[in-house]
Amino acid sequence: MHDMTAKQAAVSPVGQHPHFQKHHRRFPTTAWLRRRAPSNVPLFAFEYGDTGAGNDVGIGHNWAAFDAVEIVPRYGVMPSLPPVDVKLFGRSYAAPIGVAPMGGPSLVWPGADLLMAKAAQRARIPYTLSVAGGATIEQAAEAAPDVFWLQLYRFWHDDHKIGFDLVRRGQAAGAKVLALTLDVPVRTTRSRETYAGLAHEFRPNVRMIWEMMVRPKWMFALLRNGYPRFATIGDYAPAGASTNEIIAYARARMGGAFSWEEVKRYRDAWKGPMAVKGILHPKDAEKAVALGIDGIWVSNHGGRQIEALTPSIDVLPAIVAAVGKKATVILDSGVRSGQDVMRALALGADAAFAGKSFLWAVGALGDDGPDYLINLYIDELRASLGQIGARTLAEARAATIRHPGAIEFAAQSRPRRSK
Ligand SMILES: Cc1cc2nc3c(=O)[nH]c(=O)nc-3n(C[C@H](O)[C@H](O)[C@H](O)COP(=O)(O)O)c2cc1C
Repeated sequence: MHDMTAKQAAVSPVGQHPHFQKHHRRFPTTAWLRRRAPSNVPLFAFEYGDTGAGNDVGIGHNWAAFDAVEIVPRYGVMPSLPPVDVKLFGRSYAAPIGVAPMGGPSLVWPGADLLMAKAAQRARIPYTLSVAGGATIEQAAEAAPDVFWLQLYRFWHDDHKIGFDLVRRGQAAGAKVLALTLDVPVRTTRSRETYAGLAHEFRPNVRMIWEMMVRPKWMFALLRNGYPRFATIGDYAPAGASTNEIIAYARARMGGAFSWEEVKRYRDAWKGPMAVKGILHPKDAEKAVALGIDGIWVSNHGGRQIEALTPSIDVLPAIVAAVGKKATVILDSGVRSGQDVMRALALGADAAFAGKSFLWAVGALGDDGPDYLINLYIDELRASLGQIGARTLAEARAATIRHPGAIEFAAQSRPRRSK
């Protein structure tokens, strides 16, 4: 752990995890967590959590786009590590870092949803439950009462009957933010997930059973937490429905991207801050803000939809320029370090969220994983800010940056073909 004054220690949980140093020796960055996870997690489950769309090219693009963002430091101003506490949608959090919503993390590690929720609550950073997660809305709210956000997909069936019931439950449970995901208009192919046998009906074969049997830590988590299920959606399926039956039930009632008209209906129903997730174009951000949306969640779904989508970090500056004064801007897709969080802040985001790296952490370290990863991200963020000479998050936003991938929407011209 780095030098820290007592006052700064009080505002950040850095280094509070009792095993931080032990874990840090083995897992100095998230790449080491990713490397380790498959030895504890059955391969089919690891592949589900780690895969990108198609041949995974989008994931590499996201990482490369972050790596290309350079910051010019200033020296002679930095007495010690800066505080990183932040206000998002009017609430205080310990750091501008959050857990992105994920469907099915309990397949990667049985009980993962609540492990992440509890760790986020301890650290006081946002935790977002996916409607396709392995915990119910009420369980997540109990585990993370101060930091619980809720994400929804589009349950269109019967004029959004389930969708609006989910809104009601989220509101009753005290979710701090509602996020509607817009970037899954169609189902696409993730080759590693498909090859692992998880894109269609789940039928464990001999290979899968063997992979589970030789992962004792995972088996133990399974015994403690039970078989992974889609807990929130499962509440609507017929009693006693199997996991496959719940999936079939949900697929018959959900899908497509929310239209702007539907976004407005949810906006009217939800009393509290609301974000739209998966935005990559400033015009879509402006449209959402005009409808009364408070938060723009810039994301390409972590490269899980199609490979051709632009990295979210490359459209961030244009979206911040369009709506940054009126809306909270969240960024995800490709965040692997506190340094990446700093890059996102420097390009105007209010916070950066992570998905896959939380699954790597839980796979590598089990129960300790999410706490350790949050500590690591905050520790790295503070060290990164210290390194560039930023004494506050606001100073990081004013840093000098080179961002070769940034898309300038106004300058985009379409090649025209003569007939
Ligand atoms: C296993 C997995 C499941 C996901 N499920 C959802 C989901 O249910 N809803 C959603 O809005 N995003 C979902 N996402 C996308 C994440 O919220 C987030 O946008 C993405 O993981 C961020 O990129 P990163 O994984 O590179 O950090 C999922 C991501 C993963 C890895």
